[in-house]
Amino acid sequence: MTSTPNFHENRPSRRLLVTGGAGFIGSNFVRYWCTRYPGDRVVVLDALTYAGNRQNLASLVGKENFRFVQGNICDRSLVETLLEEEQIDTVVHFAAESHVDRSILGPSAFIQTNVVGTFTLLEAFRIHWQTLFSVKGGNPQGVFIHVSTDEVYGTLTPRDPAFTEKTPYAPNSPYSASKAGSDHLARAYYHTYGIPTIVTNCSNNYGPYHFPEKLIPLMCINMLLGKPLPVYGDGENIRDWLYVEDHCRALDLVIHRGTPGATYNIGGNNEVKNIDLVRMLCRLMDELAPDLPMRPCEKLIAFVKDRPGHDRRYAIDATKIKTQLGWTPSVTVEEGLRQTVLWYLTHQDWWRPLLSEEYRAYYQQVYGN
Ligand code: NAD
Ligand code: DAU
Repeated sequence: MTSTPNFHENRPSRRLLVTGGAGFIGSNFVRYWCTRYPGDRVVVLDALTYAGNRQNLASLVGKENFRFVQGNICDRSLVETLLEEEQIDTVVHFAAESHVDRSILGPSAFIQTNVVGTFTLLEAFRIHWQTLFSVKGGNPQGVFIHVSTDEVYGTLTPRDPAFTEKTPYAPNSPYSASKAGSDHLARAYYHTYGIPTIVTNCSNNYGPYHFPEKLIPLMCINMLLGKPLPVYGDGENIRDWLYVEDHCRALDLVIHRGTPGATYNIGGNNEVKNIDLVRMLCRLMDELAPDLPMRPCEKLIAFVKDRPGHDRRYAIDATKIKTQLGWTPSVTVEEGLRQTVLWYLTHQDWWRPLLSEEYRAYYQQVYGN
């Protein structure tokens, strides 16, 4: 097991702006951070799109060092105000349109939030940084973390080596193209203006509070509802699964010890074919759920039309973050999936309200039923 980083000793407190902190990874990160570093100020900026959920942060409401602001990262004056009035030194930027299928149905929001929104944040942070910190001799702990994805590297065949930080960008979906654009902007702000940006590119996260449109929560919920389990194409596509808490630990290290201007790949070292993953989930649900509409769950598996431009395989080579910052993932896919299935079983009050009219309309468009 990797030990959790410990930066408590002699550590000056930080003031964080966390964008997208009401989403899946963002909310896991905010809970992690507030528990680990209770002396830090954490301000969440989130537009509460369909993917943002106040419930994800309910345990922090009323805590002295925590503030939630509903707002859009494209709103320059709001971002400037927050940076200034909260004297922010650390931005952790999660806010994004994050779902590939939605980017295929309608790319425009992806360009707006992922490209224009990231640009807006970077530009506001540049002015904030230059006026408030550079003139006072700098702020050694200030950093802008841009949380990105392995999808910017495109697709691998089963025989290719895993993605390294040197793999050329080759995004294949509107989502990954928009993330690639924002990664380049973050990089350019370091090289051109000396703003301390760091880009992280991680693999598929999973765990609690994952929105039901994504593979793992969708499968868990459909099993509990007795609905078909739609597997795209032949189910042989491979993803490298990263437990969300491992990701939070990696970001903790990058924030404290990462090199400005650098990029870090973060991966779970857990490559699994989609069909094998779905079968694992079925076995876990058969074992753990007391009553199910259909048992065994494997009977619900349905191969459906493939996602257009579906990347075949993602795999992360995380050697750099391991050797430079001492991070390795600690949760195996078997452990992580068991915890995740249990979470969806015991948190029906969290996910049932998310199956809204909007969700049903989206589901109908993608799956046709
Ligand atoms: P998510 O869709 O669960 O959450 C996104 C959050 O951003 C939501 O709370 C939403 O309300 C907010 N948001 C969207 N547009 C906004 C805007 N214009 N202004 C302010 N807030 C806005 O996403 P996630 O899965 O938690 O992903 C977080 C980040 O990590 C994204 O940048 C994503 O590209 C990246 N990432 C995710 C994964 C993954 O497996 N989930 C893997 C690699 C990288
Ligand atoms: O790799 C990192 C990326 O992982 C992140 O950048 C994205 O934000 C995140 O959404 C995720 O993208 P994927 O497209 O890999 O995740 P998704 O859960 O949508 O799909 C995982 C795999 O499962 C993929 O090969 C498509 C397949 N799939 C997905 C759904 C929703 C199915 O077979 N059936 C489904 O119903």
